[in-house]
Amino acid sequence: MGKFITIEGIEGAGKSTQLAFIQKYLADQNQSLTVTREPGGTELGEQIRELLLTPRSQGMAVDTELLLMFAARAEHIEQVIKPALERGEWVLSDRFTDATFAYQGGGRGISQQRITEIADWTLKGLQPDLTLLFDLPVEVGLQRVLIRNEGVDRFEQEKVDFFQRIKECYLDRAQQDPKRMKIIDANQSIVDIQAQLTTILDSLLAH
Ligand code: TMP
Repeated sequence: MGKFITIEGIEGAGKSTQLAFIQKYLADQNQSLTVTREPGGTELGEQIRELLLTPRSQGMAVDTELLLMFAARAEHIEQVIKPALERGEWVLSDRFTDATFAYQGGGRGISQQRITEIADWTLKGLQPDLTLLFDLPVEVGLQRVLIRNEGVDRFEQEKVDFFQRIKECYLDRAQQDPKRMKIIDANQSIVDIQAQLTTILDSLLAH
C-alpha cells in the first residue's frame, strides 16, 4: 500500500506552491504519486465542485453543502484514492475530510458528531497517513486571495470571522491528532517552510 498525504489550510495559505514542491520532492525519491484535490478529483466530483464553488449557488442550504462534499468524496475514494493506494502509489490530495470538519463544522456550525457519522460511513476507515496543515493569520490569507485577482468563489466571499472559526477548528484537530497532522507556519519564508516539509516527508519515507 502507498501512503496517503493530505494538505489543508484556509484560503491563501499557499497550498498550491507547497503541493508542487512535495510532488517534485517525492518524484525525486522515485515514489509514484497521484496528485488530486477535493472537492473534485473525478469527472463527477469536478461537476459537484462547480456546483459548490460557483457564486450562483449563493444561499445553498448548509446540509446540501455538507452532503455534496461527501458525495464528491465517496466518488473520489472509490475511483481514485483507493485504487491508487492499492496499486502501491502515494496519493497527495489538496484537501480531504479535515476540511469538512473545519468549513462545514467550524465555519457553518454543523455539529462535529453529525460530520463524524457521515465521515465514518463514507471513509470506511480510510485515514490519511499524514496531513499538512498550512496555518497563517486569516487577514494575511485573505489579502493573498485578493492580490491573486482570479475572482472569488462562494467560500472566498465569506467574512473574516468565518475563516477565523475554520482556522481554530483546524488547529484543534491538529492538537488532538499530532501524530498525523503537522502544523506548518505558512507565514514564514518559503525556504523555511520547505525545510520543515523535507524533514516531515523524510520521516514518512523512512517508515
Ligand atoms: P480550494 O481549491 O481553494 O481548496 O477550494 C475548495 C473550497 O472548498 C475551499 O473554500 C474549501 C472548501 N471545502 C469545504 O468547504 N469543505 C470540504 O470538505 C472541502 C474538501 C473543501
